[in-house]
Amino acid sequence: MSMKRRIGILTSGGDCPGLNAAIRGVARASYEMFDCEIIGIHDGYRGLIEGDYSLMNRSQFSGILTLGGTILGTSRTPFRDMQVIGEDKVDKVGAMKKTYRDLKLDCLVTLGGNGTHKTANLLSEEGLNVIGLPKTIDNDIYGTDFTFGFHTAIDIATEVIDRIHTTAASHGRVMCIEIMGNKAGWLTLYSGVAGGADVILIPEIPYKIEKVADIVEARARNNKGFTIIAVAEGAMSKEDAKMKKKDRETRRASEHYSASGEVARQLREMLGVEARSVVPGHIQRGGTPSAYDRVLSSQFGVHAAELIRDEIYGVSVALRGNSIVHNPLKEIAGIPKLVPEDHQMVTIAKHMGISFGIG
Ligand code: F6P
Repeated sequence: MSMKRRIGILTSGGDCPGLNAAIRGVARASYEMFDCEIIGIHDGYRGLIEGDYSLMNRSQFSGILTLGGTILGTSRTPFRDMQVIGEDKVDKVGAMKKTYRDLKLDCLVTLGGNGTHKTANLLSEEGLNVIGLPKTIDNDIYGTDFTFGFHTAIDIATEVIDRIHTTAASHGRVMCIEIMGNKAGWLTLYSGVAGGADVILIPEIPYKIEKVADIVEARARNNKGFTIIAVAEGAMSKEDAKMKKKDRETRRASEHYSASGEVARQLREMLGVEARSVVPGHIQRGGTPSAYDRVLSSQFGVHAAELIRDEIYGVSVALRGNSIVHNPLKEIAGIPKLVPEDHQMVTIAKHMGISFGIG
């Protein structure tokens, strides 16, 4: 095929390890398979709106496989603001379409999470050729078994739990480790299992603090003076779950609130135990991707290039079982994939004696 393809590529939303590996996968496979020019759009949709981009050369995709973050930069441009003309008086959708047309793009590859996919779908409905790649440490994108970034974050969070484990045991303390994930508990569930947590608290399964306290006491009776509690950033008690979403969010937005801090505070008050909270935060999103994520990101990136070659657009790449597939954007965009209460991993954890603070 002699036609030169012009490919725009952007990374949007929170970063995660594996973005550069995926960008590299798209670029390497595209250069291998067809004649192309790749335009890097800076800082996600902001760059597409403002026309901030640069023509990439092949060497810029070298040496980035192991690099954390994203060489293109990223930003959060909430979907709800996309179709609204705000104080800046900018028609954002119109501006994005204009940049796409000005650049004479044949397609736009968007690497991002749920918000990114919603905007990608919107642009696809507006007639642009769009391909999505699912990234996030939260693993909460519908239609794919795993997102890239997730496994690296599991490794990091597990290492945090492992390190806390030894100091918890030495001091006989209750340690509440806060794992990222505001809406979805996948990362807490997997790292909690990998790190041998005694209790896992996730947003999808509101807990009763009395049940958590029972575990701490039962362990103490069995001469286990310490307890490891993996608490998702968005974990909530049954009482919190009954609050109006807005009130809950206001409380959570306060500077001193943390889900793990709340659990530790209540256990101190109820049991008089030494309970501490640890919040590793963005450490979970930083640094080099794991081998698993390097492979998955490469697979996703190469599949995106194959789709460009075959002119298949309006889709998002996904992992289903051991196969790399693609889903129509309109079927998956913005549908959060949360942990079902009866998910096999939840059952497995329960069968290993891990408590979810219920029952
Ligand atoms: O979506 C990834 C994530 O790290 C969530 O787990 C977390 O709730 C959120 O991003 C944090 O966002 P920010 O980087 O904007 O603080």
